[in-house]
Amino acid sequence: MSFDMMSLPDEFIRRLREAKHVVVLSGAGISAESGVPTFRDAQTGLWAKYDPQELATPEAFQRNPQLVWDWYTWRRNLISGVGPNHGHRALAQMERLVPRLTVITQNIDGLHQQAGSTDVIELHGNLSRTKCLNEDRIVEQWEETGERPPRCPHCGGYLRPDVVWFGEALPPLALHRAMAASRTADVFFTVGTSGIVYPAASLPMEAVEAGGMVVEVNPEDTPLTHWMTYTFRGPSGAVLPAIVSAAWSETF
Ligand code: APR
Repeated sequence: MSFDMMSLPDEFIRRLREAKHVVVLSGAGISAESGVPTFRDAQTGLWAKYDPQELATPEAFQRNPQLVWDWYTWRRNLISGVGPNHGHRALAQMERLVPRLTVITQNIDGLHQQAGSTDVIELHGNLSRTKCLNEDRIVEQWEETGERPPRCPHCGGYLRPDVVWFGEALPPLALHRAMAASRTADVFFTVGTSGIVYPAASLPMEAVEAGGMVVEVNPEDTPLTHWMTYTFRGPSGAVLPAIVSAAWSETF
């Protein structure tokens, strides 16, 4: 689905070209066109009967560590088979066209970094990293005995994915950096997020408070929509490349 570049207001393009600091808050929607189901998409296959919000919790892991470990293994394998899409790549390109671009992502798939974005704040962790449940530190190697979840080589406790579960605090440094970036954003994009989960969903308000132009890229309305200076209703894989072309076409 192509997106009509002509519907990009001149004022939007002007403020984007003049921006000293662009900030992007991304959610699962930016990875949808890579084939990664969004968090609130229906689950498929053997996981269809589970609600992700029931699995991504400390209580679920406590109750059934093997089930939660297996679900994340399934998601890791899903992600290992996909790559960044045009939306991720457009943001990596935009980073080279503006003085500073910070990506704040709720995604745990690492696709922004794979696309070439270099300033990425991972609010909810990263599925490629594993940590010890007890020691809360990253573990890179462990003995595969067939036990699931595997055990920490240091303390013998369970290993778990290095992602933020519902009810857990976000990594303090990541949240601090995300708030600071949002307060200095001349242009703040929210891309592919339902704007339901806090504190991530409060970041656009930080940009509004600081006088930034806030822009939503999403096929649907969200609770954030009414804060927006501009909303572009379409898939990020089409909208973001159209924005880069419209704003910097003379540079390529
Ligand atoms: N382009 C842009 N947006 C899209 C696309 C697309 N191609 N396809 C879907 N979307 C939008 C949907 O309209 C929806 O608003 O992406 C959003 C996905 O919303 P969620 O599935 O709720 O994902 P997200 O907002 O990232 O969830 C936030 O909550 O579920 C927890 O920790 C989890 O990080 C996640 C957080």
